[in-house]
Amino acid sequence: MEILGINGSPRTGGNTEILLDAMLAGAEEAGATVSSVKLSNLDVSPCRACDSCKRTGECIQKDDMQDLLSKMKECDVWILGTPVYWWGATAQLKAFIDRWYGIDREFFRNRKAVLIIPLGSSNPKTAQHVLGMFEDIFAYLGMKQIGILLAPGVYERGEAKKRSDLIEEATRLGKSFGTIK
Ligand SMILES: Cc1cc2nc3c(=O)[nH]c(=O)nc-3n(C[C@H](O)[C@H](O)[C@H](O)COP(=O)(O)O)c2cc1C
Repeated sequence: MEILGINGSPRTGGNTEILLDAMLAGAEEAGATVSSVKLSNLDVSPCRACDSCKRTGECIQKDDMQDLLSKMKECDVWILGTPVYWWGATAQLKAFIDRWYGIDREFFRNRKAVLIIPLGSSNPKTAQHVLGMFEDIFAYLGMKQIGILLAPGVYERGEAKKRSDLIEEATRLGKSFGTIK
């Protein structure tokens, strides 16, 4: 079982990172092989809508997306993390998702995905558009959402560390992914 974390937050030591690390540690404890990338450390340009991919089958932009896709291909579970930014996902996460446009839908079918979504507001409804976006994308591509960690009420960098409820939930979810077939 190989699990890949994809962190869409640009913040070092941020809440997405803390919860993702806890989830990956749980999965590793349960026997999975884990790795993670941080999109803000990678060069993943936004889609240019040139439709070159529709003609040739691959994106005209040569950046870190090709390597990331090969990694994703090898992994059984993708953990996608983004904080809520302006009721939506971060620009880094959105640029990454937009690049899925050029990829054969077969690549995504039956892929297992997990979401980590921290947000400053204590009202979970603030994450409704991010949740709705993922729900629709996963349904469209035939993916399976196998877990979600919604973390309202964490605003400052590192705040999630003090939230034992969130850390425990992240670890518990991670352990459950470590053993799925
Ligand atoms: C540009 C920006 C926009 C934000 N927009 C929202 C928002 O609309 N709603 C909200 O609840 N929190 C918002 N926040 C707060 C973040 O969701 C919160 O700080 C989160 O814990 C950040 O996660 P991270 O530490 O992984 O980056 C925003 C933060 C930034 C920097």
